[in-house]
Amino acid sequence: MLTHDEAKARLNAVGQGHLLNFYPVLDESQRRGLLSQIESLDLDALPSLVEQYVKNKPVFTLPPDLGPAPYYPRHEKDPAKPWDRAAVEKAGEALLRAGKVAAFVVAGGQGSRLGFEGPKGCFPAGPVTGKSLFEIFADNIAGAQRRYGAVVPWYIMTSPLNHEATVEFFKKHRFFGLGHNDVMFFPQGVLPSLDAATGDVLMTSRHEIATNPDGHGGSIKALKVSGALDDMRRRGVQHISYFQVDNPLVRVIDPAFIGLHAAAKDSSGEMSSKMIPKAYPEEKMGVFCASRGKVEVIEYSDLPASLQQERLADGSLRFIAGSIAIHMMSVEFVERLASDPKFSLPYHRAEKKVPCIDPRTGEPAPAWGNNGVKLERFVFDALALCRASIVYETDRAEEFAPIKNATGVDSVETSRAMQSARAARWFEACGVDVPRTPTGEPDCVLELSARTATSASELMIGGLTLPPRIERGMRLAL
Ligand code: UTP
Repeated sequence: MLTHDEAKARLNAVGQGHLLNFYPVLDESQRRGLLSQIESLDLDALPSLVEQYVKNKPVFTLPPDLGPAPYYPRHEKDPAKPWDRAAVEKAGEALLRAGKVAAFVVAGGQGSRLGFEGPKGCFPAGPVTGKSLFEIFADNIAGAQRRYGAVVPWYIMTSPLNHEATVEFFKKHRFFGLGHNDVMFFPQGVLPSLDAATGDVLMTSRHEIATNPDGHGGSIKALKVSGALDDMRRRGVQHISYFQVDNPLVRVIDPAFIGLHAAAKDSSGEMSSKMIPKAYPEEKMGVFCASRGKVEVIEYSDLPASLQQERLADGSLRFIAGSIAIHMMSVEFVERLASDPKFSLPYHRAEKKVPCIDPRTGEPAPAWGNNGVKLERFVFDALALCRASIVYETDRAEEFAPIKNATGVDSVETSRAMQSARAARWFEACGVDVPRTPTGEPDCVLELSARTATSASELMIGGLTLPPRIERGMRLAL
């Protein structure tokens, strides 16, 4: 391990000597902890990160040939790009039956907007049962395993900040009935959080450096370093179904998407994406674009208003394809990127409130606005590294109800309402009479587990005896 003098020399060389200000007053174990944290930092990279992302802000330049990314429309008979749904689903199902598909959730985020104590995946999301997000995903996986008669191993990326709590939660809930050996947890990397005014590395206490997880883009490296890719290879897994921890409506296993990704003529089978049409031009979503023959996501803050608002002759938005952070990736693609010593994804900078101490006094620093700069990598930047990549349209009401905020837009309230509304539509498609309010919302609260069905047609043929009608105000979970 690094000695104090070595650490001091290395820190002074990069202008971060303050990290040892309180070393003399620390006890032995705090000293060891601090030195090991310092050792894990990529100190040589720090000065240029501070220069590029704190002292300056990177300027985004729009590619001159930027256009909207083509996509497979939700309705396969859409003349814009017709496709053979039956054949595609068959291809996806064949991969599932052969055990070649894994589920992968990125759950290393800090969920600061939600303000929930504990890993976000433990948040009670189910509208009737209060099931956690993790349990809702486990239901998806258990349902798929039963339907396709094969194991769907589940990889869960945590961060050093929530790893233990996540694993404990699964143990407490007996892995929600999934095989213990078929669920693997691994933490992603972290980066030091920087003082937004000076670029100094922040400290949360006299012996702890403030760090933040290195973004969902850190998953590419973490899959490799953790041994998850090796585990996939051992199992014969070829494709990874990637999703975020905050969307209880996600179809964790979607045969049509898997099939398109793996078998469509214009897909390299390396990395594919799902999109939903943006609801309005200013909606805060990244947009799938195309440039130099590659698909890429442009963040909403980088897409000029004139392009956001541009419309086609039929009135629809030209840049319509909003990213919902659902991807398929091949094991081979991730392996290729992560094994390349030159591989790296660009950093994105976010200004955030980071609780910290004053490095001169060691006392908690007074909280003011966004005092810190966090650097993160985004997984969608890997799209540019694919040979070819496809985008597939899906229906927002069916597949996207994220829980990001404590209240308001994208909150638990809106998500639960959307989960109940989807269940209501599926019940109605099966002939069940669902009471509705004068404004059309279900006048009851419904929840359907993915163990029961993952679509209205599955519910119909699932052999369940459904009630002929739901009473007003009723709460029903199936
Ligand atoms: P968000 O962008 O919503 O970030 O993450 P967050 O950290 O969870 O929440 P806020 O911004 O602090 O409120 C989108 C997805 O990416 C994962 C999150 O767990 C979530 O599933 N993520 C994000 C990671 O796995 N690691 C990260 O470093 C960041």
